[in-house]
Amino acid sequence: MEFKERDIISLKDFSRAEIDYILDTASIMEPIAHSGSDLLSGKILATLFFEPSTRTRLSFESAMHRLGGSTIGFGEVESSSVKKGENLADTMRVVECYADIIVVRHPLEGAARLAAEFASVPVINGGSGAEEHPTQALLDLYTIKKEKGKIDGLKIALVGDLRYGRTVHSLAYALSLYEVNLFFVSPEMLCMRREVLEDIKEKICVIEKDKLDDIIGDVDVLYMTRIQKERFPEVADYAKVRGSYRVDLKLLENARENMILLHPLPRVEEIAPEVDDTIHARYFQQVWNGIVTRMGLLALIMGKIE
Ligand code: NCD
Repeated sequence: MEFKERDIISLKDFSRAEIDYILDTASIMEPIAHSGSDLLSGKILATLFFEPSTRTRLSFESAMHRLGGSTIGFGEVESSSVKKGENLADTMRVVECYADIIVVRHPLEGAARLAAEFASVPVINGGSGAEEHPTQALLDLYTIKKEKGKIDGLKIALVGDLRYGRTVHSLAYALSLYEVNLFFVSPEMLCMRREVLEDIKEKICVIEKDKLDDIIGDVDVLYMTRIQKERFPEVADYAKVRGSYRVDLKLLENARENMILLHPLPRVEEIAPEVDDTIHARYFQQVWNGIVTRMGLLALIMGKIE
């Protein structure tokens, strides 16, 4: 298994053994995240965010600092030379001189892969349009494994915007490597991308639904997502599906007692605030798990953990 200098662009590029190895490395990072370390001392991470972000960028920065490394980058295009018309290829060729590893978030699908082709240092996809968000899916898997002790044998529902939501695409690819039953719950207009469905349906059992009530009593993991308003070509279409699903205390009355509720965040309307105090909520734990998962990845890619 080789992680050193590897780009992380799509979870389609990874085997189950590799993903398990990343999850095991993340758990090794739990105590180190508290104590701090100098494992990546002298190393520089660049975060190039051409789209808004709170969690992913700060999580990578926090992970790098906890490993003794440092970070540079920009969080908005307004403050970079992209504003002057610089293309992605030139930006990558410049930033590779400043950093040992680069995280890129970009509104265009394929941009992360392109960025990796131009950079001689490893590139991590921090979100490529509506396509993929591999590190979010890895932390989601880590959370499931930590909370449930396993991934195999679980019934998992991905709910909401399965068309424009990138986290669910990466998560579906990864989950298809395990023995799980998947439910995709969405309005017709936001159904799971056909290319993802085609790729995974040979490997695992997938059932598509449009009502949350139909599956709430059956699942071990409920993964809610935000309707991705900013990616709709027509605002009128967003109005048709806005608020399609909402997890509240009433809905949870029918859930299994040990069902866990995940969300990549930010949430808007899809989880009622009073749900935060229930035994199901795990979305703020996911945030912590994101730090240790990214610490593990950075250490593996920098070749500091075999
Ligand atoms: C997600 C994203 O950017 O795709 N956020 C995140 O990274 N945790 C989900 C979203 O924006 O809805």
